[in-house]
Amino acid sequence: MGISVTRLVKIYGSTTIVHGISFSVADGEFVTLLGPSGCGKTTTLRCIAGLERTNGGVIEIDGKVVSDAEHDIFVASHERNLGMVFQSYAIWPHMSVAANVAFPLEVRGIRDTREAVAWALDVVGLAALAQRQPSELSGGQQQRVALARAIVGRPKVLLFDEPLSNLDARLRDRTRAEISRIQKELSIPAVYVTHDQAEALSMSDRVIVMDLGRIIEEGKPRDLYRRPASRFTADFIGAANFLSLVYREQAWFAPDGSAVRLANPEPGVAGETRVAVLRSEIMEIRARDKAIGQDNHNALHGTVKGLQYMGPHIEYSIDISGVPLNALSNEEFEVGAAVLVTFRPQDIHLLPRSETPQSPSP
Ligand SMILES: Nc1ncnc2c1ncn2[C@@H]1O[C@H](COP(=O)(O)OP(=O)(O)OP(=O)(O)O)[C@@H](O)[C@H]1O
Ligand SMILES: [Mg+2]
Repeated sequence: MGISVTRLVKIYGSTTIVHGISFSVADGEFVTLLGPSGCGKTTTLRCIAGLERTNGGVIEIDGKVVSDAEHDIFVASHERNLGMVFQSYAIWPHMSVAANVAFPLEVRGIRDTREAVAWALDVVGLAALAQRQPSELSGGQQQRVALARAIVGRPKVLLFDEPLSNLDARLRDRTRAEISRIQKELSIPAVYVTHDQAEALSMSDRVIVMDLGRIIEEGKPRDLYRRPASRFTADFIGAANFLSLVYREQAWFAPDGSAVRLANPEPGVAGETRVAVLRSEIMEIRARDKAIGQDNHNALHGTVKGLQYMGPHIEYSIDISGVPLNALSNEEFEVGAAVLVTFRPQDIHLLPRSETPQSPSP
């Protein structure tokens, strides 16, 4: 049945932190709240968890209202049947792994915890370490104990708040895959909070982009990355180049005066300016003198202004008639080289009209 959040409002003191946001998470779905620090992700999660009372709106879990400020409904956190994993693992140092995992069941008065604990440790791959003390575990193993503890009571919902940020990069990748696998195996809805776009894109069925206590947009990772509806999303998820295109003579033109062909033609009004998104990794760079005879669509004339050797590729900063453009390539060019930057029609994306700044364009 999943989770549904309707017009959620949270106020601290006199400051509104969450401004009436609505979203839902289907059964078995993995949804990530993604946004910059302070945008209200943790606050939203804590409201779902019942660790905060709300100031407006309704939260339902598995078809049951658990929070409704107007009707004074508030189901306590421990009665919401949730599994939670936080950034700090919060496992008890003086208890064995098995005792840590059994703890939530014991609090509920369940005596025979052995089978459930064995199951949970097996799911997270820690069965062999049941009798260890937390001090004898690595950071990744400790976080898996926290995960086992979160699932041992067979929760209806999983909530994660930046669970990987204390792990080093390699462990983070492994644990990321592990969390995805476990969530799919249990097939329960999960809400995952992060400000890390790579985590959000790789783990989620759907990503909700937040800023300043509001939802900017939501969508599948691939759609948000390739066809963002807002400048904010384009910029926050992956590095985006923004190009102002002008419409005239039935076509869109780039700042260097070259014509741009779109996969889904979107006619404008004569003289209209629209912002387009071009990802740095989808362009090809060629020396201009070697590109004679090139189709003159989707080929920007530029000059290399700078470069950074990154290992897998070189990151070029290219000037397109005064507009800076970042593009990745394996080819070597020198600063000052005259280049042609090409891209496919399906790789340039026009943002909605509302995303074009209203000030007159130069
Ligand atoms: N208990 C509190 N009292 C007052 N203000 C709070 C409280 N908790 C959070 N805030 C404020 O609410 C805003 C949102 O905080 P929140 O922790 O939800 O952000 P976040 O999106 O999780 O950020 P981060 O990525 O840094 O964890 C912040 O401006 C924060 O200062
Ligand atoms: Mg937070």
